[in-house]
Amino acid sequence: MLDQGAPPHARPATVPASPGVAARLMRRKPVERLVAEGGQGEGGQLRRSLGLWQLTMISIGATLGTGIFVVLGEAVPKAGPAVTLSFVIAGLTALFSALSYAELAGTIPVSGSSYSYAYATMGELIAWVCGWCLLLEYGVSVAAVAVGWGQYLNELLDGTIGVTLPDALSAPPGQGGIFNLPALIVVLLGMVFLLGGAKESARANTVMVSVKIAALILFCAIGFMGFKSGNYANFMPLGMAGVSAAGATLFFSYIGFDAASTAGEEAKNAQRDLPRAIMLSLVIVTALYVLVAAVAVGAWPWKKFKDSEAALAQIMTDVTGQSFWGTLLAFCAVIAIASVVLTVLYGQTRILFAMARDGLVPGIFAKVHPKTGAPRANTIIVSVFCGVLAAAIPLGQLADATSIGTLFAFALVNIAVVVLRRTRPAMHRTFRVPLSPVLPALGFLFCIWMMGSLSEVTWIVFGVWMAVGLVFYFVYGYRRSRLATGEELAPAAEK
Ligand code: ALA
Repeated sequence: MLDQGAPPHARPATVPASPGVAARLMRRKPVERLVAEGGQGEGGQLRRSLGLWQLTMISIGATLGTGIFVVLGEAVPKAGPAVTLSFVIAGLTALFSALSYAELAGTIPVSGSSYSYAYATMGELIAWVCGWCLLLEYGVSVAAVAVGWGQYLNELLDGTIGVTLPDALSAPPGQGGIFNLPALIVVLLGMVFLLGGAKESARANTVMVSVKIAALILFCAIGFMGFKSGNYANFMPLGMAGVSAAGATLFFSYIGFDAASTAGEEAKNAQRDLPRAIMLSLVIVTALYVLVAAVAVGAWPWKKFKDSEAALAQIMTDVTGQSFWGTLLAFCAVIAIASVVLTVLYGQTRILFAMARDGLVPGIFAKVHPKTGAPRANTIIVSVFCGVLAAAIPLGQLADATSIGTLFAFALVNIAVVVLRRTRPAMHRTFRVPLSPVLPALGFLFCIWMMGSLSEVTWIVFGVWMAVGLVFYFVYGYRRSRLATGEELAPAAEK
């Protein structure tokens, strides 16, 4: 471990004035320091108000949304009825990484999630790369998900009052739209909740998550009435290649289970509850996905999904013969996707909070409002940025870029858990990945395999994104990092 203590001028003459570039890039932030600084912002502290229930709901809130309501319809034509297997494969990739997340979240319970885990284990440059990938996972996915919200909103308006917003104001830019107003509105709504504080946001999220779980259970009950075993006759029409391609697409539906790990500094008992919340949310979400997919492909011939934009809603209408049920599902999808926006936006603000506290991004992201305990300026900047991105930029390829960034961050987490086991074997862990290093190694390999299934264009977008990130790091964070300046925050007061 490097000596991160006093600034160079204060050191004895026999000690080199400053470490070399390689050593600076690999400087690590001690776990104890990460934990001691937990909660501290500029001008105030985050508040510890979230219990196991709210944390689990945050993870489910961030996960269950566009993937099952929209992306399922794109995945079925690739895999046929075997799409259920694709969900299991994507879920396994998420599961191995979730185990690693659970161990690290219990050991290093801070807001920076995998960015902070990488900082403690693999050094500043890798941490930065990880944080930059998280911007794709959280920031860009908020925008991508918000676009899907507008489509369901229109469906709901059509089903209830028979009016839809004109394409120019509601379609994604590049697909007939000029400015996607609903996408901006849903992000700003999320912002309003977040400005009220973590507890208030968690409360609203819990209601929304209950609605979406109830809607999917209702779908299963109704869809099951239209189940025809003949729809399963040709289970894997496009072979294993189709199953894995659909798995890579469906990985998007698992993104977000790690959101609880961004709440480490607002959890009442982070070390105990974070690992539980992560695992619990993944189990609930996977069970729902497999069940919904099994019922959907039982109710409809797989080829029919190709021509449908809102398959679940249309299946409800087909089976019952009444459009009311389809409209009801559209209403629930509007709520479901709004809660993804809210919780993912929350995660993004907390990750930037941790990065700002470390000096790698401007300090304004670490300013906390004394009354609400929320990082106010951070929330406003992130929301406006994501809202405008969603409303004005064509995001087609960026949704896959979200997956590639997430998979890369997950791969790093699987390495981090093994590194920390080696470097700090005696450290207290509230959760341990079983069979380490075998399961983290499998998690790593699954992530790389899934990344390999993504298109060339996605890789190009990813490469450009990383290059921009590295330029930003060398221009800004490399020098201003608190580890470089030697500046330390006082330990947080008891909360
Ligand atoms: N997993 C999230 C969703 O499906 C991103 O909407």
